[in-house]
Amino acid sequence: MGRVAIVGVGLSKFGRSTDMNIKELAFVAIKAALNEAGLTARDVDFLSVGSFGLWQSEALPAVVVSEYCGFENAGTARVEAACASGSAAVYTAANAVASGQAKVAVALGVERMSESPQEVVVEMLGRSGNFFWEFENYGLTFPGYYALYATEYFSKYGASEEDLAEVAVKNHYYGSLNPYAQFQKIITKEDVLKSKYVAWPLKLLDCSPITDGAAAVVIAAEDVAKSLTDSPVWIKSMGVAAGSSNLSRRKDFTGLEASLKAAKMAYKAAGIEYERAAKYLDVALVHDCFTIAEILAYEDLGFAHRGEGFILAKEQQTYVGGIIPVNLDGGLKAKGHPIGATGVAMAVEAVKQLQRRAEPGRQADIRNGTALTHNVGGTGHYAYVFVYSSS
Ligand code: COA
Repeated sequence: MGRVAIVGVGLSKFGRSTDMNIKELAFVAIKAALNEAGLTARDVDFLSVGSFGLWQSEALPAVVVSEYCGFENAGTARVEAACASGSAAVYTAANAVASGQAKVAVALGVERMSESPQEVVVEMLGRSGNFFWEFENYGLTFPGYYALYATEYFSKYGASEEDLAEVAVKNHYYGSLNPYAQFQKIITKEDVLKSKYVAWPLKLLDCSPITDGAAAVVIAAEDVAKSLTDSPVWIKSMGVAAGSSNLSRRKDFTGLEASLKAAKMAYKAAGIEYERAAKYLDVALVHDCFTIAEILAYEDLGFAHRGEGFILAKEQQTYVGGIIPVNLDGGLKAKGHPIGATGVAMAVEAVKQLQRRAEPGRQADIRNGTALTHNVGGTGHYAYVFVYSSS
């Protein structure tokens, strides 16, 4: 398998899109990414599209986007891994290039969640747990699932709602510095603690929002990448794992087995020691669909010992200058979570960080030239971990 690199990235503004449909959102991200790479859509051999899409009118977004954006010479496929669909798109495109099937591929994530009423969106997300055992019979919603993780974590390790609030405050702070973020508003711990309960102990400001948006990356083979840019960002390793689709089959609720497996796979391939990952990585983008999810990620990714992730948040060690800066783009919490676009947007941010292009105040100190992305689908059904490197 050959080395592959990202040579161009693009994003649409995240939020509620009142004036653009999915192909127009996709066009914004794709055009920006191709412009950065110095390529046109005709130069692309393969387009992979992450789009969960149950709320959208277009049933075949990959073909619709491909045609609208002028991918005349590219094969295409839509990939699904729930909230990790974007990472599945990057994985698919990277493998198409690494295998030699394509010289240049584009991974796109696009979602327009506002196409359906809020209650339909909440139902479709809820059905992405286990429909028969958990949604139909018990009515579990996504905030409900993560509330179960939070209550178990609290009872096992003594963390509190205040500790979760630390994550929301940090991610909103960095969102306020990111012009592409849905929420560009600084919040305080008191704001979080006073916000309305959605599923106890999770409150409105512990949740990621419902978002429209698109993200794209151009992935090229080593020789092409070197001819296009002096600063390619290499996909150093990829870890992918799946968990049970049924919550009752999970060993416990204070970590995601799929995240742990995917992290170990990616670290092994990149030559990173699990216990020393936080020291080695310059920056990480983790799946904070709810504040508790970010804390579980600290532990699953080896940034903190089991039961101590909340201490990392409390001590503010995941800000710039801390042990491991996390979600400097605002994360899912403040940047927004357009389901299928999220994993690609993480890749975009990893590239910007490694190329030192993030806006002032939210740029990590780049020492080893290494970044990590971690994207979860479902309640731990899918997990993708990527290690990116500037050399
Ligand atoms: N964080 C901060 N503010 C939020 C927000 C969030 N997550 N969600 C909504 N808001 C704000 C809106 O901007 C709006 O502000 P405004 O009145 O100033 O315009 C206000 O809160 C009400 O918005 P609304 O959309 O009516 O909220 P809601 O109560 O219907 O929905 C949630 C809020 C949290 C229930 C909904 O966003 C949700 O279900 N989020 C989780 C999505 C999810 O499960 N994703 C998959 C995870 S893997």
